[in-house]
Parts: sequence; C-alpha cells; structure tokens
Amino acid sequence: MGNVLTRREFLKVGSAGLGFGFTASALRAQESKETVKPLRCGFIGVGGRGTALLRNVLQFQDVEIVAICDITPPNLQRALDLVEKARGKRPDAWGDGPYDYRNLLRRDYLDCLVIATPCNWHSIMYVEALNADMHFYGEKPLAITARGVKWIQTTREQHPEVVVQIGFQWGANRARAHVIRRVQEGAIGELIEGRFHRYNRWGSLGRWLDDRRLSGDWMLEQAVHEFNLMWWVTQTHPLAAYTVGRAHVVAPDNPKRDVTDFYTTILEYPAGLIVHYAHGWINPPGFTGMSTRFIGTKGALDVLGNYLQLRGQKEPLKGEGPGGDTREHLRNFFDAVRAGEPKMVYCGIENGVAASYVGLLIRKALDEKRRVTFEEMLNDPQDLPPLPAA
Ligand SMILES: NC(=O)c1ccc[n+]([C@@H]2O[C@H](COP(=O)([O-])OP(=O)(O)OC[C@H]3O[C@@H](n4cnc5c(N)ncnc54)[C@H](O)[C@@H]3O)[C@@H](O)[C@H]2O)c1
Repeated sequence: MGNVLTRREFLKVGSAGLGFGFTASALRAQESKETVKPLRCGFIGVGGRGTALLRNVLQFQDVEIVAICDITPPNLQRALDLVEKARGKRPDAWGDGPYDYRNLLRRDYLDCLVIATPCNWHSIMYVEALNADMHFYGEKPLAITARGVKWIQTTREQHPEVVVQIGFQWGANRARAHVIRRVQEGAIGELIEGRFHRYNRWGSLGRWLDDRRLSGDWMLEQAVHEFNLMWWVTQTHPLAAYTVGRAHVVAPDNPKRDVTDFYTTILEYPAGLIVHYAHGWINPPGFTGMSTRFIGTKGALDVLGNYLQLRGQKEPLKGEGPGGDTREHLRNFFDAVRAGEPKMVYCGIENGVAASYVGLLIRKALDEKRRVTFEEMLNDPQDLPPLPAA
C-alpha cells in the first residue's frame, strides 16, 4: 500500500493528538476548537427516521454530510436541500435504483454511513457495509429473520474493527446505565418478574410498516427497543416464549395489512425470571403508555424511568449521570469512529442480535401457536427477507 493510508489510519492521523484513552468529552472539546478533521459521512435512506437522524448530525460541526442515497426522489431532494441550507454545500446524490447504495459503499471518500432504510434491507446493507469495512450507524432491528441475524454475525467476525452502532437510542442515557449497573451489582436482589408493555394509539402507520415481509412485524420493527432493555439488564436471552395475538383488527378491510395488531407474550428466562410483554395498536386516547419494569427480591427497577425502588424505603433511587437520546447516540458513534474503537459504542451488533432474537422468538411462538424454545428459533429456516431484483 506504500504511503496510501487506509480509512482507519486516515482517521487516526486526522484526529492527531487524540490517542487511546481519551474521552468523549475531550473529543467534544476538540470539536469546538475546529482542530479535528471532519468525518465524511454518507446517508442511505432519508425518510422519516433518516431525516431526523440527519437533522441531529447537522448539529455536529466535526461531521460533513458528503453523500445521500434514497430511491424516493422527494425524500432525497428534501435531505439534499436540508444539508445545503445548513452547510452551504450540496452532498452528492444517489438513488438510481434500489442497489445504487453499493456505489456509496465503494467510494473511498466516505468515513462512515448512517443507514435508515426499511427493515427488509437491513441484513443485506449491514453485511455489505461490513464487507466494505465501512463504519455505520444502522437502524434497528438488526435483521428480521434468524438467517439474516446469523449472516451479519458471521460477517462481523471477519470485520471486527468496523464500528457499528445500532439505533437503540435509549442506550445513550447515562442515568439509565447507572441504575442498570446498580441492579447488576445486586441492588434489587434476584430478578423475579419483568412487567413490560407498549400500548400505541389506535391505528396503522401504513406504507411498508403494514407489510410483515418488509417490517418483520411489530415485535421486530418496534418492540426490539424494549428487548434491548431486557438484554441490557439481564445480559441473557429467554429460554422459551409463548405468544398469542391477533391481526386484521385495526384495518379488517385491508388484506395488505398483515402485521399483528396486538399480542401478549410470556418469556421464560433462566433462574425463574418471567417477563411478560403486551404490545398493540388498539388503544383509544388515555389508554396508551409504556411499562419497562423489573421486580426483584429486594426492590424494583423502572428502566425507562431511570430509578430503583427498594422494598421498605419511601424514596426511589434515581440514576446519576446525564440523560441522552438520539443525538448522544449518534455522537457516541462518531466518537467511536474517530477513536477506531468498536467497543466504545453504546449499542453494538451484540445488542442488535440479542434484541432481534427475542422478537424472532416471540413471532415464531405466535405463528406456531405453541411454546417455542430459543434453540428452535435459532434454527428457523425462514429465508432472508424479500428484495427487488437487481
Ligand atoms: N430508532 C428509532 O426510534 C426509529 C424510529 C423510526 C424508525 N426507525 C427505523 O428506521 C428505519 C426507517 O424507517 P422510516 O420510518 O424512516 O421509514 P421511511 O419509509 O420513512 O424511510 C425509509 C427510506 O428509505 C428509502 N429506501 C428504501 N429502500 C432503499 C434503498 N434500497 N436504497 C436507498 N434508499 C432506500 C425510502 O425511499 C425512504 O425514503 C426502519 O428500520 C425503522 O424501523 C427507528
């Protein structure tokens, strides 16, 4: 290679003086001094979520948006306009067919990517990004079939240095990390029960989200956020699940909507922990809400509330540390890219794997109307998600 730098070497030189051991806050201090070389970032998919991510990234002066790819022209134009207005320079535009993103992966001038495409695209795009040694922030879920998850895991083993952040932005909250650490140290004793639910409003989001083959269904498209919390706290996976639920309730006249309108699942974890989770779209005003709680022998944890409540005590113990959501999650990704440190991310591929596997277990139990074990889910032969012809 002579004196040609790899992308990773280039980033390290570009961030001169920021060796190992530096912190994210040190990086932010550097950022404000404008001494760091900007990271050149591309986007694939700038619909609802991609645009929200783009608006956040535009707040980082040390990140340039140099290329955007989207196959829906109005979405592409909107994103290009946004960047041009904010930065005075229009990124390169891509989107000539569903596989044009491959040209982005080939471009040497990119340091990293943000990918926010519909779920059926995740496994192939993530595998190809890994194979291209391209750092990426990829939206959840990791994949919507067990084969898709394994494909990414195998590819990841061959590219351990690629920085990957999965879009579980709840993982960026440091007060939450603090209370979860306390629980893992035994603050609430042995975990006995998990009480989880997400009651969305009554309705349909339309588009690909109504189509199970494209979204994976709600236990993959949406509830993986909660499953990532379960993984974060327990650091293990359920042994088995039993699920019941119904489709065609919200839009009975629309045969194209085949996602599950509501379901309830029981997850059996090791050591007697039982987690129940209810999820649905059949909630009139006043009936929506979420619960992300664990009960232990000595107290309880409210995960999204960031506090513990010990038995016999009046006051809750609140998590200490800064909050954090999408912006901090993205910031953590770019800091890890600069550092060339895949382990620095809040939610890496292992989070994506763990959360997707819970979704897949629940979906298989629902479809087969029986208790399904984790091993049975792992061996599910279902094909990779459908994609358009190249
Ligand atoms: N982390 C979160 O809280 C959160 C919130 C919403 C959505 N999401 C996730 O973000 C992803 C996108 O969801 P959305 O709501 O933005 O969907 P969307 O339909 O609004 O946007 C998807 C975009 O991807 C583009 N696209 C599709 N195939 C493409 C291809 N082959 N090449 C280039 N562009 C392509 C579409 O044209 C569209 O603009 C999903 O995985 C979803 O689960 C995450």
